[in-house]
Amino acid sequence: MRISERARAIRPSPTLAIAAEAKARTARGEDIVGFGAGEPDFDTPEYVKRAAIRALEEGFTKYTPTAGILELRQAICEKLRAENRLDVSPEEVIVSCGAKQSLYNLFQALLDPGDEVVVPSPYWVSYPDMIVLAGGRPVFAKAGEEDGFQVTAGAIERALTPRSRALVLNSPCNPTGSVLSRERLGEIAELVAARPDLVVVSDDIYEQLIYSGEPFENLASMRPALAERTVVVNGFSKTYAMTGWRIGYAAGPKELVAAMGRIQDQSTSNPTSFAQKGALAALLGGAEGRAVLERMRTEFDRRRRRMLSLLREIPGVSCVEPLGAFYAFPNVEGLLGRRLEGRILATAVDLCQALLSRGVAAVPGEPFGAPGHLRLSFALGMADLEKGVGRIARLGRDLS
Ligand SMILES: Cc1ncc(COP(=O)(O)O)c(C=O)c1O
Repeated sequence: MRISERARAIRPSPTLAIAAEAKARTARGEDIVGFGAGEPDFDTPEYVKRAAIRALEEGFTKYTPTAGILELRQAICEKLRAENRLDVSPEEVIVSCGAKQSLYNLFQALLDPGDEVVVPSPYWVSYPDMIVLAGGRPVFAKAGEEDGFQVTAGAIERALTPRSRALVLNSPCNPTGSVLSRERLGEIAELVAARPDLVVVSDDIYEQLIYSGEPFENLASMRPALAERTVVVNGFSKTYAMTGWRIGYAAGPKELVAAMGRIQDQSTSNPTSFAQKGALAALLGGAEGRAVLERMRTEFDRRRRRMLSLLREIPGVSCVEPLGAFYAFPNVEGLLGRRLEGRILATAVDLCQALLSRGVAAVPGEPFGAPGHLRLSFALGMADLEKGVGRIARLGRDLS
């Protein structure tokens, strides 16, 4: 079978592959600690489930407008106004099957062959492939470990060319957990203001998971003049533990959102009707919603601190403190180039393979653009977290 060049140009998602491998091994009875998952281990809040069940019982089971039901888009506008100081109308919002589909539609609607998108590196694995699928070219701006993985305006400037069409910002960041400081964001805003042709893609999916106490900011809320060429992407997966529901959204310039809508029209049509009702309930959750969120954030924070201190005790491992999301991104170069049971572990991929045989599923840094690192999710119970990091430490001790 001849497979299209387009499909051959992209890689399967390595994070989903690791999570699937861990699940398969667990199903075979192996004792695997899974650090691979990019999803909260909490269940979706009851009040959200109840709303979706009610929608089903009331027969809300038909097609909806492609861009999502009006009440949900209105609630998203209200959320963006209240929490992000953004003034957006429902025609400027599209609800998709996850933030992932919004991002996919966005690059399809924005890019022509050869157009470039500046992506800070390390990056979420899907950006480069989505950009390539849309005919574009990702250009990476290195976010240095010595800078706490916060990309600088200078690094972005060096990646810009006359073909640059967009800049992706993802703070808090998957995989590093870095959060752009106000100061850093201000410098990036200056740079973007001087490039009026540049569209900003602000992937805010981890906005509720910040542990420093700092309020969340994005480029558009910080610099309102940039709002007209910023597309805010967000969703329900991480904030409300709703990964399987597949509801995310984008808010941006009307023309661009309409183009994204045409692409969604010809692919999936609307996101699932009753899942939209669940998402609406999540946003309207009031005090109950805030309490659930706060409990989740507090628990993630507890695990984050524990993971960081355990990792920093392992000789050969260093780790920048993750200030957001639910990932630690330790540097494991000190464990590489050494032997385990006669075999040299040359790369983080080799290390992850060795870890899997010792009951730990971790994702290597390579697909995030950062060899020599591991991405460890702390969205798992404390006992498993301690057991898993203990196994990494033991492997470190067995190296010669
Ligand atoms: C940075 C980032 N953006 C977007 C997404 C997509 O989220 P979803 O499609 O579940 O809304 C993810 C999920 O892992 C992510 O980590």
